[in-house]
Amino acid sequence: MNEQHTTARTGTSTRIVTVTPNPSLDRTIELAGELHRGAVQRATRSTAEPGGKGVNVSRVVVASGGDTVAVLPGDELDPVLLGLATRGIPTAALPIGAPLRSNVTVTEPTGTTTKLNEPGPSLAGRLDDLAALVADTVGATATGPAARWVVFAGSLPPGLPDDALAVLVRAVRERHGDHVRIAVDSSGVPFTALLQSGERIDLVKPNAEELAEVVGGDPDEFERDVDAAAEAAQRLRDKNVGTVLLTLGSAGAVLVTEHGSHAAAAPRIVARSTVGAGDSSLAGYLLAEVAGQSPERCLAQAVATGAAAAALPGSDVPALDHTDPAAITVRALQQHAATELA
Ligand SMILES: Nc1ncnc2c1ncn2[C@@H]1O[C@H](COP(=O)(O)OP(=O)(O)OP(=O)(O)O)[C@@H](O)[C@H]1O
Ligand SMILES: [Mg+2]
Repeated sequence: MNEQHTTARTGTSTRIVTVTPNPSLDRTIELAGELHRGAVQRATRSTAEPGGKGVNVSRVVVASGGDTVAVLPGDELDPVLLGLATRGIPTAALPIGAPLRSNVTVTEPTGTTTKLNEPGPSLAGRLDDLAALVADTVGATATGPAARWVVFAGSLPPGLPDDALAVLVRAVRERHGDHVRIAVDSSGVPFTALLQSGERIDLVKPNAEELAEVVGGDPDEFERDVDAAAEAAQRLRDKNVGTVLLTLGSAGAVLVTEHGSHAAAAPRIVARSTVGAGDSSLAGYLLAEVAGQSPERCLAQAVATGAAAAALPGSDVPALDHTDPAAITVRALQQHAATELA
């Protein structure tokens, strides 16, 4: 199957377009002591990084030498866009005439962190413009689509309707049909609304909580019992989803495709910061997929990349070269027949 995949992909695109509707400038402020409400305090250090789930996926792709474009709202001189340019991340930006949000993390020496997330500027009335930009960026060449994957990731900014993800996915399908694959990493109402729309999604990457939100069940049980997790993930496939990459934190991940289910255990690591681990695992999966690897290898790469991200401090992202997918054991799970669930 591996060889077939590789052959089928000769000459096709390996580009991964990411869409981050609500990006941010992630500011981390380090204090020398405890945080005191109402006081003026001096910070010992501060950093600012462009953030957002799709942006993180693009960062891993660039770090790994892959081909990506990050689509996001934001003006040319916005600190988020400047930060991405500095880091060599190609972007396609929708000018909005307002600054993007900052998400502030205050860290104390004891390890306690306080997060203050802004809602972000309103994109009211701009959904069609964003949809057109995404469809343009996916592009087309004489030999096929310019992008193999489009990833929609993260939350929605104020001003967009709950079904905005469905509108964006439809715009891509209308222009590009089945030539491009669609991946989604979202949660809450926007994710539920997308699944209810019936639009075909090739890949979703929930964690245990996000899966439980959509199909019910107990997230803790999913992390303890991969068979229960695979069965619940299979129910997502009934909602016109091709493949489910369910990540389970330190318990690894489960991949459910039309051909069956597999589980991969996470390696033991010293977790420094799990921020962006899920985004990194999605990037790892997609990079293995565009390289023509088997579903099992894609799953191993997802788990290895997520673990590498969790072992790095802050929102640092790993490069595939620094991951060890060969050390990940993947095992087949019992097939969950569709009739069992009907
Ligand atoms: N403590 C850990 N030890 C080993 N691997 C981990 C750990 N935490 C995360 N990982 C790896 O990262 C992957 C993704 O983690 P997780 O399921 O927590 O993603 P997530 O909840 O979507 O995270 P986020 O949305 O914050 O990026 C896991 O499948 C696993 O491979
Ligand atoms: Mg996640």
